[in-house]
Amino acid sequence: MSFTSLTKWGALVSLLSIASAAPSAPSQGSCRTYPGDAAWPKAADWTGLKKTVSGRLVKTVPLGAVCHDPFYDEAKCQALKDGWAMPLVHEDSSTAVMSGYWQTDACSPYTPRNQTCELGNYAPYTITATSAADIQAGVKFAQSKNLRFVVKNTGHDFLGRSVGSGSLGIWTHKMTNVQVNTNYKSSYYNGPAAKLGAGVRGADALPVLQKAGYRMVGGSCPSVGLVGGYHQGGGHSSLTSTYGMGADQALEWEVVLADGSLVTATPTKNQDLYWALSGGGGGTYGVVVSLTVRIYKDGLMGGASMLFTPEGVSNDSYWKAVEAWHANVPAMTDAGAAAGYLVSSTSFLVAPVTKPGASEAEMRRILKPVTTTLDNLKIKYQLNITQFPTYLDHYSFFLGPLPGGVYPIDRTMGGRFVPRSVLQKNNKGFVDTLRHLSETTDAFLGIVAMSSKASKAVAPNSISPKWRDASLSILAQTQWKFGEATQVNVAQMDELNNVVIPALEKVTPGAGAYGNEANFANPNWKKDYYDVNYDKLRAIKKKYDSKDFFYGPTMVGSDAWAVQSDGRLCRK
Ligand SMILES: Cc1cc2nc3c(=O)[nH]c(=O)nc-3n(C[C@H](O)[C@H](O)[C@H](O)COP(=O)(O)OP(=O)(O)OC[C@H]3O[C@@H](n4cnc5c(N)ncnc54)[C@H](O)[C@@H]3O)c2cc1C
Ligand SMILES: *[C@@H]1O[C@H](CO)[C@@H](O)[C@H](O)[C@H]1NC(C)=O
Ligand SMILES: *[C@@H]1O[C@H](CO)[C@@H](O)[C@H](O)[C@H]1NC(C)=O
Ligand SMILES: *[C@@H]1O[C@H](CO)[C@@H](O)[C@H](O)[C@H]1NC(C)=O
Repeated sequence: MSFTSLTKWGALVSLLSIASAAPSAPSQGSCRTYPGDAAWPKAADWTGLKKTVSGRLVKTVPLGAVCHDPFYDEAKCQALKDGWAMPLVHEDSSTAVMSGYWQTDACSPYTPRNQTCELGNYAPYTITATSAADIQAGVKFAQSKNLRFVVKNTGHDFLGRSVGSGSLGIWTHKMTNVQVNTNYKSSYYNGPAAKLGAGVRGADALPVLQKAGYRMVGGSCPSVGLVGGYHQGGGHSSLTSTYGMGADQALEWEVVLADGSLVTATPTKNQDLYWALSGGGGGTYGVVVSLTVRIYKDGLMGGASMLFTPEGVSNDSYWKAVEAWHANVPAMTDAGAAAGYLVSSTSFLVAPVTKPGASEAEMRRILKPVTTTLDNLKIKYQLNITQFPTYLDHYSFFLGPLPGGVYPIDRTMGGRFVPRSVLQKNNKGFVDTLRHLSETTDAFLGIVAMSSKASKAVAPNSISPKWRDASLSILAQTQWKFGEATQVNVAQMDELNNVVIPALEKVTPGAGAYGNEANFANPNWKKDYYDVNYDKLRAIKKKYDSKDFFYGPTMVGSDAWAVQSDGRLCRK
C-alpha cells in the first residue's frame, strides 16, 4: 500500500481500512523540504523565482478563503457554494481540485466562518505557466531546493495527482493555444493534426476544430483537460469505437524533463518516452508543454438516447431488458458506436449513443435487438434518435453546455473494466451483480461502452492492454456531500472500495480498471491500472526521472514515497 496520509488527516486515515500507518520519524534527508524547515526557500528566493517567470508566481489563497475570517465575504462565499458541485469554479484556480476527498476541510466553504483557512493539500506557491521556459524555471527551482512538485491543469483528477502539500505547483490552464495543421507529415502519419497547448480543454479545442472542418477524440466532459491527465492516462471518448482512444491519437509530445531540459517525443524520436507518455499516466514522466494529435474530417453525427424503467412490469422483466442491452454491446461497438449510461434499480438511461456518419435508420438498426426485447417484455421506453451536422453540435446537445458540461463533481470514484468475454459468456451473472449492487448499496453505476482496437493507434503505446479487451468501463461512484461530515463521506467511499468494487471484481476476474476513473486506495493499483506495462513504465521513468522527482498517488514509481501524517513527502 503506497498511499498513507494527508495533512491533518491522521484520524481520517485510520477510517480507511486499507491505509497503512506512515513511518513516524522520517529522516529529514530523505524527505522533501517542507514549509517551516530551515531549508525552505527564503522570501528572496521566491522573489527571484517570481522575477524569472515575469511575475507569474502566485502565492496561494485557497478558493474557500472568502468563506472564512478575515477574508469573509457573504456574497462571494454564496456564489462559490452555488458553483461548488460543478467543475468551473475549481478549474479557474491555481491550486483547487474538484475531488472533495482531496480538497479536505482545510479551507472548505462549508466549515464555520471562524475556522482558520489553511492550505491543506494545496501548494503554497504556483507558477501560472505560459511557456516551456516558465515550466523549466519551476522544475529547476524545485529541484535545486528539494521541493515537492505538482502539476495542476483543470483539477479533475480523482486520485489526488494534481495536489501536493508543501509543493511548488505548475498551473497549465492558461496554455490554451490550438493550432490546426491540415497536412502533418511524418513517417508514421500524414494527414490533419492539431497542436494543443498543455491547458487546452475539449471546450477550447472543439469549436476551433469545428470551424476548420474537423473533429477529435476527447472526453465526455468539455472541461476536462486534453493534454494533462486525459491523453497521458489513455482517454476514452464517445468517438473511441471509430477512432480509438485519446492516447492512440498522439503524434508528438513536447515535454520538460526532471532535469529541466525540453525534449520532443514521437514514435521515432525518444520512442520510449513517447510510449510511456501515451497512456502511462499523467504527471509521471515530465511536464508536457504541448501535444500534437491526429484529427478527423467533421460531418454527420448519428446519436440516440434511451430511457426505460420497471414501471408497469416486474423487476425481473426490467433486468432482462438490461441484460438485452449488454448482450448487444459487442455488436453495437463493433459497428463503431459508443455509449454512456446510468443503470439503477429504478431506471436505465443512455445518453448518448454516438456513431459518426450514421443515418437515423442505422441508429435504429444498431439498437434493434434492445428495442425488440423491450417490446417483447412490454416495457415502455423513450428512444430519441438525433442527427447533427457536426460533432460539436452532437456533443453540445448531449454533454454541453460548454465549457462546463453536464457532470457534477461531488463524487468519489471506483472503476472496473468488463471484458467482452464476460458479456458473451456470463452476461446474466454480470447483470445479476449490477442488480444486486443497485438494490443493496448507495453507489451509482455509470458505464461507458466502447471498443478500442489496438490497430487504431498511431504507434504502439502504453494504454493498458486490458482496455483493448474491455467492452465496458464501469464508473462506480458514491456521492461526496459537500458540507457533510468527512467521516460520513469517507464511509460511503469505503462502501465503494470494500463492497462495490470487490463484487464487480468477482464477476470480472483479472479485468483491471481505468486508472483515471478509479480509486487511489485500491491495493492492487499496479496490476489493475497498468497491467503488464508496469515494469517497462517503471524502467522508462527511471531513465528520464532517475530520482523520482515526479510523484503522485498511484503514479508509476509512487510506492518509493509516502506522505507523512504532517503532509511531508518522504522516501520510504
Ligand atoms: C466530470 C469528469 C468527467 C470525465 N470524463 C472523462 C471522459 O469522458 N473520458 C476520460 O477518459 N476521462 C474522463 N475523466 C477523467 C479525466 O480524464 C481525469 O480526471 C484526468 O486526470 C483529468 O486531467 P486534467 O489534466 O484535466 O486534470 P488535473 O487534475 O489537473 O491533472 C490530472 C493529472 O495530470 C497531470 N498533468 C496535468 N497537466 C499535465 C502536463 N501538462 N504535463 C504532465 N502532467 C500533467 C497532473 O499532474 C495530474 O497527475 C473525467 C473526470 C471528471 C471529473
Ligand atoms: C467559532 O464560533 C462558534 C460559534 O460562535 C464558537 O462556538 C467556536 O468556539 C468558535 N471557534 C473558534 C475557533 O473561534
Ligand atoms: C426524448 O425527447 C423528449 C422531447 O424532447 C424529451 O422530453 C425526453 O426527455 C427525451 N428522452 C430521452 C431519453 O432523451
Ligand atoms: C423492485 O425493485 C425496487 C427497487 O429495488 C423495490 O423497491 C421494489 O420493492 C421491487 N419490487 C418488487 C415487487 O419486488
